[in-house]
Amino acid sequence: MAATISIHGMWTNRLAFILAATGSAVGLGNIWRFPYAAGEYGGGAFVLIYLLCVAAIGLPIMMAEIMLGRRGRRSPINTMRALAREEGRHPAWQLIGWMGMVTGFLILSFYSVIAGWTLAYVVHSATGLFVDIDAAGADGVFGALVGNAERLLFWHSIFMALCVLVVARGVASGLERAVRLLMPALFVLLVLLVIYSLSTGNFAQAADYLFTPDFGRLSAEAVLSAMGQAFFSLSLGMGAIMIYGSYLRSDASIGSNSLIIAGMDSLVAILAGLAIFPILFANGLQPEQGPGLVFKVLPIAFGKMPGGVVFSTLFFVLLMFAAWTSAISLLEPMVAWLVENLNFDRVRAAALGGTAVWLLGVVCLLSLNKWSGITLFGKGFLDLLDFLTANILLPLGGLLIAVFSGWVLSRTVSADELALGEGPLYRLWRMLIRYVAPVAVAIIFANSIGLPSLVMGWLG
Ligand code: TRP
Repeated sequence: MAATISIHGMWTNRLAFILAATGSAVGLGNIWRFPYAAGEYGGGAFVLIYLLCVAAIGLPIMMAEIMLGRRGRRSPINTMRALAREEGRHPAWQLIGWMGMVTGFLILSFYSVIAGWTLAYVVHSATGLFVDIDAAGADGVFGALVGNAERLLFWHSIFMALCVLVVARGVASGLERAVRLLMPALFVLLVLLVIYSLSTGNFAQAADYLFTPDFGRLSAEAVLSAMGQAFFSLSLGMGAIMIYGSYLRSDASIGSNSLIIAGMDSLVAILAGLAIFPILFANGLQPEQGPGLVFKVLPIAFGKMPGGVVFSTLFFVLLMFAAWTSAISLLEPMVAWLVENLNFDRVRAAALGGTAVWLLGVVCLLSLNKWSGITLFGKGFLDLLDFLTANILLPLGGLLIAVFSGWVLSRTVSADELALGEGPLYRLWRMLIRYVAPVAVAIIFANSIGLPSLVMGWLG
């Protein structure tokens, strides 16, 4: 019989879970990463593939993660071990949990550095640095921040400390309350920004860029990145949503909750695109700005807007909060595991995990300036970690979660936990999780390493 509560605590109700999971999903991935990835890979076709991946791969895997977490009621490693044992399968399935913990560790190390940028931008905004700034000025402000290791270190350290603080206190009493207020505020502000951007920016060109797919420009790497973006943005593939599911009451519906979370997440990403690209085109900028995109483009709009100082400060404060509510979900699996296996108390576990992540983060931030000459595959350390985690480790984790949920876990367990009945909805989920998701991930992987052309080469 499955456990009904977790030793780490429980969400007070269904809304708390939705807010926490949406808080995890909505973050820098939507507002920082999505626009620059779309800009890098040519817009429309990337956006379309991304949305397809959310619907056909992300949604069923999100349901699977919540289901596994709730069934196991432990950290992802121990959940996977317990469920494999229940099914009489090999304990090696717990490797999914181990891989996830490492992936979360790697992601958080660079995530915290970028979140540090948002903190620095709060101060920039509040001190009026963006008033009447032009593209060259915004470029200079960004360059001055990223080129300065000491400043990056300062903000990265503050952000990591904030994460440790919340996770040490336990999720329910810390973030649950903040998220309730802040996520709606971020949403409202984003909508205001879109309205401003629509009325003053080059909306037609932006809409054409984001929504008219040009498949001629779609490379195998672009498809891989669109899938990676879906995993990253939905917080899937490493056990974050799994552990959040382990704190969810047994009577909550997994399907409808997943639909809400994924829907909100995609909506925020699209809104972010609609806020940024009209301004970008109106100022004659190119979409291929790389990771600095949002930080170089939005200040220009805020600088011209009446009340821009207030709006821009507010925006970066809220963006920081969005990053915060995401970052804690990256730390939580590690902390829960330390508590379960090494008998740490929560405070020490959070401090230890946070310190280790912080150290790797220092390497990330140095790769932007002092060590920018050191590259592998043409990428610095931070970019490399970003690429490796989002485009390879998360989809691989997702693939294994899908295979486990569809092929290893018995049908009665998944049917019971998802509670969709034996009707078409359950059968649709099962088809997606057994065939569509694993095969799609495998094909996209194979394509991106050039397997088809290799095979064609052998054949003839
Ligand atoms: N989804 C978050 C964002 O979009 C980042 C994030 C939080 C994440 N938890 C995760 C990404 C787990 C991958 C896996 O900003």
